[in-house]
Amino acid sequence: MPPPTPIEPKAVEAITADATTAEATPAGQPAPRGFRFRCIACGDLTDSAVQNFRCSRCGDLLEISNPSWSHTQGSSAPTAADLKATWKQRRASLSPVDLSGVWRFRELLPTLENLHHVITLREGNTPLYGLPQCSRMIGLPHLFAKHQGMNPTGSFKDTGMTVAASFARQAGFRWVACASTGNTSASMAAYAARGGLRSLVLVPEGKISWSKLSQALDYGAVTCQLRTDFDGCLRLLQELVLRAPVYQLNSINPFRLEGQKTLAFELLEQLDWQPPDHIIVPGGNLGNSSAIGKALLEMHDLGLISRLPKLSIIQAEGANALVRTLREAGGKRLVTVQAETAATAIRIGNPASWKKAIRVLQATGGACEQVSEIDIARAKAEIGAEGIGCEPASAVTLAGLKQLLKQGFVKPGESVVLVLTGHLLKDPGFTMEFHRGEPLPAAAESDSAVSELQALRHPPIVLDATLDAVIRTLEQQEKSNLEA
Ligand code: F0G
Repeated sequence: MPPPTPIEPKAVEAITADATTAEATPAGQPAPRGFRFRCIACGDLTDSAVQNFRCSRCGDLLEISNPSWSHTQGSSAPTAADLKATWKQRRASLSPVDLSGVWRFRELLPTLENLHHVITLREGNTPLYGLPQCSRMIGLPHLFAKHQGMNPTGSFKDTGMTVAASFARQAGFRWVACASTGNTSASMAAYAARGGLRSLVLVPEGKISWSKLSQALDYGAVTCQLRTDFDGCLRLLQELVLRAPVYQLNSINPFRLEGQKTLAFELLEQLDWQPPDHIIVPGGNLGNSSAIGKALLEMHDLGLISRLPKLSIIQAEGANALVRTLREAGGKRLVTVQAETAATAIRIGNPASWKKAIRVLQATGGACEQVSEIDIARAKAEIGAEGIGCEPASAVTLAGLKQLLKQGFVKPGESVVLVLTGHLLKDPGFTMEFHRGEPLPAAAESDSAVSELQALRHPPIVLDATLDAVIRTLEQQEKSNLEA
């Protein structure tokens, strides 16, 4: 890996310190060569973006587009066969960019001026697991989990962060910043540290897991616990980036979403380019679902896949802004909520990328559902019992799948991939409380549901340090197994 490129202070000055509106900061980050920024609402195409990554005409979010990729425009698009062969070949390479499960797919990512700018921790390359016990339990033979928790900092955020942090370094920024429910901050802090950048983290005080917070601290981020929720942190960050020379690394940043597309490229490669019928993802700020949807549409456009999987988004009942937006406003305006869920990663009430997410739901024919706290806890324990595990936010996918099966949206013969977004160790507090039998949020618990959960709980057993005590415990376990 080459040494970090020195930061050019001049480039930082491109974002003026006293600017307060998008119009006031015309000189922003240039679009990568061959690409343009496109507004998702008014379609305006521009060659540079200010640091809130919003359209200077209508204020909506920007995405990165490569106009030459659409096959309908004839063009310089790479052929599907060439892409598949190149990506396969790179798996035998020892170069750091090829060892990255993100940069290996660089033909479909924005182009860096020089690959020496890449900040990589060998992200991506995550396993696709079968879930045999869950398959049997719900009667769905073709069920898989794409485990993004196996990324270097334990969540899917790394695939986006390697791209956005590399562009931040190329643009000459010294500071990067994010608002976070925990995983983005852990990932950003790690990539910033790797790339010689300083990082500023804004997290809601008392609302994120210690495990995630500890990562940010260890990677050297300036970590501010704000007395607000995630939505309050993000609001503040959006203002900050227009006032101070910091580069924002939330999923509003379209470079992040470009990196997160690679989950879908890698998944389809693992399935030998045979699309599954369904892909199911958790929905929080809705960047990830938007990124995966964008990747599916691009792959379809380029002929890498012959049909689109249905991409479905699952939210916690207590953080169900997208569900309500679709049900109560027909997807026309955002219905925000005061978010509350023990799945703290998706405790978000005002999701930034809601329009992008609705677009991919419509384009792929996916569904949007919500699941209860008790369903999340049960699904998390069931994924744990597979020897895999995940954090609570990821478990909404299995809980949601059960509902989609019941509704007939997913059929028993179909193939389904659940995207597990975070590692089990991201939230040990939740796991310990569950296995110790501590009560789940009161409103969610009925007597029968609680007794059903009992079988999934494996509380630690405190014993005297004697052989007898351990053998008695083994015998008791055997007995209760036979009775079950
Ligand atoms: N799963 C996990 C484990 C997450 O950390 C997040 C988001 C999501 C799902 C939802 O993804 O926001 O793209 O819809 N975490 C962000 C964070 C918000 O700050 O770490 P999304």
